[in-house]
Amino acid sequence: MTPTPTPVTGQPLDRTDGVAKVTGAARFSSEHPLARMAYAVLVQSTIPKGKIIAIDTAQASAMRGVLLVMTHRNAPKLPAPKPPGKDEQPPNPKLSLLQNDEVQYNGQPVAVVVADTLEHAQDAARRVKVRYAPQPAVLDFQAAKRAPRTPKPQPDRPSDTARGDAEAELARAATRIDTVYTTPMENHNPMEPHATIAAWDGGSLTLHDATQNVSGVRKAVARSLGIAPEQVRVICPFVGGGFGCKGSTWSHVVLAAMAARQVGRPVKLALERTHMYGPVGARPMTEQRLRLGAQRDGGLQSVMHDTISHTSFVDDFTEPCTSPTRMLYASTALRTTQRLATLNLGVPTYMRAPGEAPGSFALECALDELAIALQMDPVALRLRNDAERDPEKDLPWSSKALRECYRVGAERFGWARRTAQPGSMREGRTLIGYGMATATYPANRMPAKASAMIRPDGTVLVRSGTHDLGTGTYTIMTQVAADALGWPVGKVTFELGDTAMPQAPVSGGSMTAASVAPAVQAAATAVRAKLVALATGDAMSPVHGAAADDVLVENGWLLRKSQPDRREPAAALIARNGGAPVTADSEAKPGDEKKQVSLHSFGAVFVEVHVDADLGTVRVPRIVGVYDVGRLLNRKTGHSQLMGGIVWGLGMALTEKTEMDWRVGRAVNANLADYHVPVNADIGAIDVTVLDGADPHINALGARGIGEIGITGVAAAIANAVYHATGKRVRDLPITADKLI
Ligand code: MOS
Repeated sequence: MTPTPTPVTGQPLDRTDGVAKVTGAARFSSEHPLARMAYAVLVQSTIPKGKIIAIDTAQASAMRGVLLVMTHRNAPKLPAPKPPGKDEQPPNPKLSLLQNDEVQYNGQPVAVVVADTLEHAQDAARRVKVRYAPQPAVLDFQAAKRAPRTPKPQPDRPSDTARGDAEAELARAATRIDTVYTTPMENHNPMEPHATIAAWDGGSLTLHDATQNVSGVRKAVARSLGIAPEQVRVICPFVGGGFGCKGSTWSHVVLAAMAARQVGRPVKLALERTHMYGPVGARPMTEQRLRLGAQRDGGLQSVMHDTISHTSFVDDFTEPCTSPTRMLYASTALRTTQRLATLNLGVPTYMRAPGEAPGSFALECALDELAIALQMDPVALRLRNDAERDPEKDLPWSSKALRECYRVGAERFGWARRTAQPGSMREGRTLIGYGMATATYPANRMPAKASAMIRPDGTVLVRSGTHDLGTGTYTIMTQVAADALGWPVGKVTFELGDTAMPQAPVSGGSMTAASVAPAVQAAATAVRAKLVALATGDAMSPVHGAAADDVLVENGWLLRKSQPDRREPAAALIARNGGAPVTADSEAKPGDEKKQVSLHSFGAVFVEVHVDADLGTVRVPRIVGVYDVGRLLNRKTGHSQLMGGIVWGLGMALTEKTEMDWRVGRAVNANLADYHVPVNADIGAIDVTVLDGADPHINALGARGIGEIGITGVAAAIANAVYHATGKRVRDLPITADKLI
């Protein structure tokens, strides 16, 4: 008997792209060396609202090396927005493409300077003189929220929801809390800022773009320029982090393409760190009111969550903070609302767990406040209200192990050692606090395509136009393909990040693994079937004449189940049959499972904080996170990704905030020295556990995505622990020392 090969999926395989990353061989978007490259620099508005009345470009244009100063006066006129068609969106209004003289936010691109070197372009950009007729700008969130707008309803996401009579149930409740939580504007700070290289060849455009969505960029750029999507190729083999800001196409991408066409050379437009604060999205400010009413035993009678987030005059974006509230607990009644306050700022956008990150902060802090009011253990309160079915959709869960997350988390953390009284675990000057919260994120999936090719040398190439944000896509797809094919993992290569490859969805909404892995599995299975057919039809093959299900492919060899000693490598079979590669294409789509079940991931986060009694500084020596995310495709990259999410949550709780000069609507900490993200010294022990168990509904692999759940619940768990340490409830993020002394 031949031993059955151990599946490699799930194993903690090292990143297949790891060596390329750490040796600098991995080429990021701004690093592609093209001949005759020209360099573009953005000129940004310095007022938040008004009209451009004059742009003096004479001095800049006359400078050495300058090829183009593009403004709304000389920029190519782009096609007017078309009505939305079946598969098409109109060019997104959030793009600032130098088509008119209007300024809607501070930092809006108002000119692009192109020169033969970056330094020449930067120098000339400083000499472009713009004169404005300023108009009154709306920059006061408190004032704007007094005239709130209701967001346009989206298909699966109404702005308001209700079940039962939340007001009446609240009035009847034995214990009530009514609190307001606020979270600040935050900016994405991936290691790699946005960057684009645009190169035209006749009517065809190639973009090397830092993006989470190559096919989305292709579509958006084609629509904006009025050309066919087939004329645009977008390439992005490596992304230096995204966190949502690279999920959509921003102005600089189209501007680079426009400039490249004007100067007849490839144009590189790489944003500086400062450019990341304004024209490419941010997480909006939120203000969230939570009203909870409970019976004496903790059973929730009423949950009311009213949220308002800021948006822009350029386009709307809603931070859907109420999403977790709508489905997490089994309350008798519920009411949620989402409103918008419109400001003269750049359009906000998706930032890691949009909705769930700030929403779970408010909800899970409110639960903690309720537990205190009820004199109940916070874990016990959550267990009391655990939803057996999805209360929003009224469907059973695809699978849910949240109770097990609480149990395992409490045990790993040592929750039983906690004494309830705030400040009761003090050691000298150190106030010790324990806090916890629930984590949750929906399990999304979209159609995806992949191709697989077995080459005559016995190596395999699998491709899909997806992305690796540094999270492990290359590695997990290699593992899935190797297992589906019966191939040694070292002989399988996975390629991604190119619109010339089979199409995959945006790498956002935590759906790459759940969407693309099934397509990879399908392509590998299909190419395996073709290989087996070739072998069974070949008189020279040891499996000639065998039924397909009597043939095994193991380690790249073909053999008959019933005669395992007669075998040959696939390479020999292919060589004998003309040497052409065996290829297959496949598509994998979600079925109707969303009609039958509700697909969500869950988790429980436990945190210990140490607060300096005199200085109010908060340290987080340890965090325990236990997750129910279906089957993990790689234990190493998966744990790292969840850990990264937890680190984000710590930043959200304690450090991150875009500080604005509200007189002019511009970020004043638009750099990594002043915008504080956690660094290694801020992070203590992070203990991640992923419960075993495949989701039987999401896909054949049982794998849900894990890109976003890691951040959820963490800020609340830290805030709850800070309360437990100090007796001070901070409802306004970030929890900085000044709020504790
Ligand atoms: Mo994520 S914020 O959907 O990239």
